[in-house]
Amino acid sequence: MTGHVLCRVEDIPDGTARGFDWPRGETKVKILVARRGDRVFGYRNACPHVGVPLELDPDDFMSLDGLHLQCSTHGAQFRVEDGMCVLGPCIGRPLRSVPVSITGGMVSVGD
Ligand code: FES
Repeated sequence: MTGHVLCRVEDIPDGTARGFDWPRGETKVKILVARRGDRVFGYRNACPHVGVPLELDPDDFMSLDGLHLQCSTHGAQFRVEDGMCVLGPCIGRPLRSVPVSITGGMVSVGD
């Protein structure tokens, strides 16, 4: 297996997202991983609006209706599948994707 193992698939309940630190050399990059069934979607945890992390409370990444990722600072909402902002001050600008995958029931990030 390549990449950095983050967790088991079941550690991200279906329809939710979790935050992680991705070790990259001497630094750690804040990312989030959203799960939709047997698919996962990874993004840098930085809002395109002003660059802050999306969540104020741990792992609180979803909109109230559970359909979109949401930035808690000014309420921007992003499609889970491609990270595009569809509502809020950074509409039309996407979250930066990171490569995540599932292998053997484990979620990993990296190539
Ligand atoms: S910082 Fe995310 S919407 Fe403003």
